[in-house]
Amino acid sequence: MDTVLVTGGTGHLGRDVVALLKSRYRVRVLARSPGQDPDVEWIKGDLATGIGTQESVSGVQTVVHAATLSPAARRGYLLPTDFWRSPPEVDVDGTRRLLEASRKAGIAHFAHVSIVGADRPRVPYMQVKHTAEKLVRDSGVPWSVLRATQFHWLTDRMLGKMSRMPLLALPGALVTQPVDSRDFAAYVAGRVQDGPGGDCEEFGGPEVLELRDLVRQWQQARGRAFRVVDVPAPARLRQAARDLTTPDGRLGRTTWLDWLNTHQPE
Ligand SMILES: NC(=O)c1ccc[n+]([C@@H]2O[C@H](COP(=O)([O-])OP(=O)(O)OC[C@H]3O[C@@H](n4cnc5c(N)ncnc54)[C@H](OP(=O)(O)O)[C@@H]3O)[C@@H](O)[C@H]2O)c1
Repeated sequence: MDTVLVTGGTGHLGRDVVALLKSRYRVRVLARSPGQDPDVEWIKGDLATGIGTQESVSGVQTVVHAATLSPAARRGYLLPTDFWRSPPEVDVDGTRRLLEASRKAGIAHFAHVSIVGADRPRVPYMQVKHTAEKLVRDSGVPWSVLRATQFHWLTDRMLGKMSRMPLLALPGALVTQPVDSRDFAAYVAGRVQDGPGGDCEEFGGPEVLELRDLVRQWQQARGRAFRVVDVPAPARLRQAARDLTTPDGRLGRTTWLDWLNTHQPE
């Protein structure tokens, strides 16, 4: 049985990927706080410092690199600082170290998780993801880049925070294509089986929604009313939003509304 290392295996996508891979592979997870699952080999480590990195790839055939550090995603809302800097310690420095360790260990496939729109980065977090993708392509390790649109959990978390405001000014015509991380995890697991594929087909949710519809569905499902004022969006912002969608990519099955109706807020 081959061994697969999953970084970020305690995160939203990583947990789903681990659950799917466990029946077919020996699964190892590099984590700052190892979990309890006895079917997983836990390596305590930290990509930001490099602790545990070399040990984590020893004897491994495939790496699924799903760790990331996005302060905005963690808190569920944007601050002005998010528009000038995103910490590179995990996504850039950690990816570089992990690639170097993978090269030394003779890893057969480095499956790198990224985001739709990383090739047109407009905000610092996307720039960090863009840089990480370049490191992967130039590493000399056989690779795949697997991009997805924004996950449902993150959209839900952000709207939960926004709903605390009495009024939300929203450019309602902007489009978005949220996806269930579980649907994407199934795609990632399939790519693990297929082996290195370079820049793979992008993955998105089953529908491209305007923000006004996305918010309306959320308010209905969560029973939370707040006033929304629809504001116009300049053409550049509309294009930036379109760049984060992939209507012609591989599509998941779980709609935003289906997901809301089957998941409690975190
Ligand atoms: N969220 C989205 O909407 C979205 C959309 C498309 C693609 N993606 C990509 O999908 C991947 C996973 O995203 P996600 O939403 O599942 O993220 P997440 O839930 O925030 O999970 C991030 C994972 O990274 C780990 N991590 C953070 N800092 C670390 C460090 N210093 N050393 C080792 N591990 C560390 C976290 O572990 P701790 O528990 O220790 O912090 C956690 O397991 C990322 O590449 C992301 O860019 C995300």
